[in-house]
Amino acid sequence: MYAIAGVTGNTGSVVAETLLAQGKQVRVIVRDAAKGEAWRVKGAEVAIADLSDRAALTRALTGVAGAYLLLPPDVTTKTPLESNAARTDVLVAAIQAARVPHVVFLSSIGAQHAEGTGPIRALHHAERKLAATGAALTFVRAAYFQENWGAALGMLPQGVLPTFIPAGFAYPQVATRDIGRTAAAALVEGGAGTQIIELAGPRDLTAHDVAAAAATLTGRPVAASEAPTSAVVPTFTGFGLSAEVSELFREMYEGIASGKVAWEGGKARFVRGSVSIDETLDI
Ligand SMILES: NC(=O)c1ccc[n+]([C@@H]2O[C@H](COP(=O)([O-])OP(=O)(O)OC[C@H]3O[C@@H](n4cnc5c(N)ncnc54)[C@H](OP(=O)(O)O)[C@@H]3O)[C@@H](O)[C@H]2O)c1
Repeated sequence: MYAIAGVTGNTGSVVAETLLAQGKQVRVIVRDAAKGEAWRVKGAEVAIADLSDRAALTRALTGVAGAYLLLPPDVTTKTPLESNAARTDVLVAAIQAARVPHVVFLSSIGAQHAEGTGPIRALHHAERKLAATGAALTFVRAAYFQENWGAALGMLPQGVLPTFIPAGFAYPQVATRDIGRTAAAALVEGGAGTQIIELAGPRDLTAHDVAAAAATLTGRPVAASEAPTSAVVPTFTGFGLSAEVSELFREMYEGIASGKVAWEGGKARFVRGSVSIDETLDI
């Protein structure tokens, strides 16, 4: 039995679908019973637990061979690092109490660094805290999600693809489908000690590459348009994100452009997925 969190989201849904398709026993973790119903119909067990509820999460994780866990985004919080640290403490306590043998945790490129990476700082902290659980750990350090471009697609009718990263700078990007499949494979493989999978897409991409893919898909001209990182906070707060979260995103974009948000290498296993940006852009 594998417990899977985030099954209504990008990656957890793929982990659960992949394991069910292989005939594995799956227990989905949802915070709302109604959201579990579709999974029950597909043959999954349903556990109701908020990831910040230690007792409920411990019950959800008890008796499993492995669990897929993540820190879901919360873009409105004014204390992003503190609230992620508190949620990490709950994950750690529940993993220990349930004696989960193997945890596959969704982390990020750049999580080897404590600072200078924006929201990825929370994943650095989580990796270190999870090390104290005694569980075998697989950290899936995913590249920048290809799906992040979805937020920029609203400007395609004007022929513009906005970017806060220099448009000619190629950086790793991966589809969440590849993340889910990789995490499912890691669960089935089982864990021993701490393993790191650094997960990229088929090739690194510039904003020009993404604009070219969008132009081909829409049949209209699209050009990448660079905005300065000084515009990140005003733009993101305008979309309703807290100033604190927006500031972390500014730091992350600068970290990507400076090369700090990059692979660690060393003992990490480097994997390339197969899903292209053309397949991901839903235009
Ligand atoms: N974006 C990137 O470029 C990038 C790169 C590397 C790593 N990451 C990591 O990827 C994570 C996001 O993964 P994703 O895209 O798969 O997530 P997602 O699509 O945003 O889905 C989040 C999932 O978590 C669930 N959830 C949220 N709060 C919960 C709570 N309190 N208790 C229980 N379940 C809760 C949601 O369920 P509901 O339906 O109940 O809301 C949903 O199923 C980020 O947080 C980050 O750590 C992101």
